[in-house]
Amino acid sequence: MAILELQNVGYSYSGNVKNAKKVLSGLNYEFDKGVVYSITGRSGAGKTTLLSLLSGLTTPTEGKVMFDEKDLSTLDRYDYRSQQVGVVFQQFNLLPHLTVLENIILSMDASKKKFDRPKKEIALEMLNEVDLDESYANKRILKLSGGEQQRVAIARTLSFDPEVILADEPTGNLDLTTQDEIMSIFTKLAHEENRCVIIVTHSPEVAKLSDKVFNLAPLKKGAKVR
Ligand SMILES: Nc1ncnc2c1ncn2[C@@H]1O[C@H](COP(=O)(O)OP(=O)(O)OP(=O)(O)O)[C@@H](O)[C@H]1O
Ligand SMILES: [Mg+2]
Repeated sequence: MAILELQNVGYSYSGNVKNAKKVLSGLNYEFDKGVVYSITGRSGAGKTTLLSLLSGLTTPTEGKVMFDEKDLSTLDRYDYRSQQVGVVFQQFNLLPHLTVLENIILSMDASKKKFDRPKKEIALEMLNEVDLDESYANKRILKLSGGEQQRVAIARTLSFDPEVILADEPTGNLDLTTQDEIMSIFTKLAHEENRCVIIVTHSPEVAKLSDKVFNLAPLKKGAKVR
């Protein structure tokens, strides 16, 4: 059973008004747990837009996004966003003056989820999952390299144990070796922990390392609603 499903999904910026800019149309696709997906496509094809539909940040103007067989637009999207789905951004969105541990615990607090162990203990375990040892816990974000910051961003996402992980160009700023290391973390999260991992990428290497590739073809230039 698919964890996320696109049912005839379309999206126009500024809704259904005349001259609205149609970015996505008629998308049907299923995303399963245990699988790493890459979403590829030219710049402007609508990849980030699709990710924001999958993350519940925006609702489609046509069709439905189904999560666990339920229409996402009918669910509490705050709960969905803070508990079921973890989003990793290219720019990490970490708070630079706080420490690694503070950044992770902040997002655990924000999720309002009940944790069965002290948050600090879970946070340290998540660091271990992304191959950062405990000595990183009290370092400030601004003292870390790009690859280390990306690991912290992933650890932060994992801290509330989401079933789905969405990442927008997570390796865009990283060298090839670091890119491979980050990809092996994502692969482990899907294959060993049965999460659904969806990565937007321009990188052919990242696409090659994922299990399935979903290529987004751009709509015809100037496509208008109706
Ligand atoms: N807030 C917005 N209002 C209007 N149009 C937008 C908005 N955001 C994006 N667009 C347009 O929608 C189209 C798709 O944008 P999107 O950011 O989803 O593309 P992308 O595939 O992620 O591109 P890139 O690879 O460059 O990140 C683009 O033509 C963009 O100009
Ligand atoms: Mg984008």
